Amino acid sequence: MTSHEERFQALIDSEEKIESTDWMPDGYRATLIRQIAQHAHSEVIGMQPEGNWITRAPSLDRKAILMAKVQDEAGHGLYLYSATETLGVTRDEVVELLHQGKHKYSSIFNYPTLSWADMGTIGWLVDGAAITNQVMLTRCSYGPYSRAMVRICKEESFHQRQGYEILLALCRGTDEQKAMAQDSVNRWWWPSLMMFGPHDSASTHSEQSMNWKIKRVSNDDLRQQFVDMTVPQADYLGLTLPDPDLQWNEERGHYDFGSIDWDEFWQVVKGNGPMNRERLSHKIKAWDDGAWVREAAAAHAAKQARKKEVA
Ligand code: 3HC
Repeated sequence: MTSHEERFQALIDSEEKIESTDWMPDGYRATLIRQIAQHAHSEVIGMQPEGNWITRAPSLDRKAILMAKVQDEAGHGLYLYSATETLGVTRDEVVELLHQGKHKYSSIFNYPTLSWADMGTIGWLVDGAAITNQVMLTRCSYGPYSRAMVRICKEESFHQRQGYEILLALCRGTDEQKAMAQDSVNRWWWPSLMMFGPHDSASTHSEQSMNWKIKRVSNDDLRQQFVDMTVPQADYLGLTLPDPDLQWNEERGHYDFGSIDWDEFWQVVKGNGPMNRERLSHKIKAWDDGAWVREAAAAHAAKQARKKEVA
């Protein structure tokens, strides 16, 4: 081991954070750029499914809450792109990789939002799954990412609560409203479990990411944590999760649950999900339409810099 490698490993072993100015293996840097950029892409593209319902919120309060949540996601994306930039890549570079289809974003955002209940289910299940994953990432060995997670998790908790509250209102409403909530959960339950990634045995990066303490809990263990947390919440709502194999296993101390459709997962990850094409083309159009803002901001910054030089 070189002295650099020894110092890096000593920092990892002693639970010290790796900072952007520290030496790090190229592979550590590369997988962090990949994961943090894809996390940022997910936050930004994740604005589309919910943005789709802002103009159709059932009340001014619901509209205000949903707008606040969607704006939060934009902020999470920008925060995470900033964390990516500490690793030596620019925001434009990773956004271009997304637009070229060379970077991924979370599979969950490739499903359509068909009813208002989906706003509740996304908050409850999707943000709930994101929190389960992100709380783990607050212990990530890379300092900027772990600190970004601390702030983001605080806002995610509001996201999850507002979603659950939407479903509580629907489940205590008319029969039609409760049926809308049940239909929504039927459509989003399994894609939410897929958010945690493939089984550990099929995970490309988990072993190395665990060794580098980027990942502290495996995909399957996080998924199990999420199921164990969520089933009692569904019971309280009076909703049935669409899995006939779901049942408490006293011996394991966890819920057993059915098999995930990994063909569906990989089809969606590969770009063949219900909304992949719309999501990416909308993202690219928004990026192109916003070029003038970026150019104006850059021109203003350059002018300010020249003024400082002259002064
Ligand atoms: N969607 C799309 N791709 C996925 C995926 C998913 N749900 N799960 C795994 N993959 C991809 C991985 O990116 C990897 O492909 P790549 O090598 O081209 O990047 C491949 O499948 C193999 O998966 P691995 O388990 O080996 O990959 P990771 O070790 O990166 O683990 C992960 C996957 C658990 C998603 C991890 O990347 C992670 O923790 N990412 C950060 C959290 C994140 O991105 N969350 C997305 C949701 S953000 C969100 O929900 C916002 C909320 O506010 C609504």
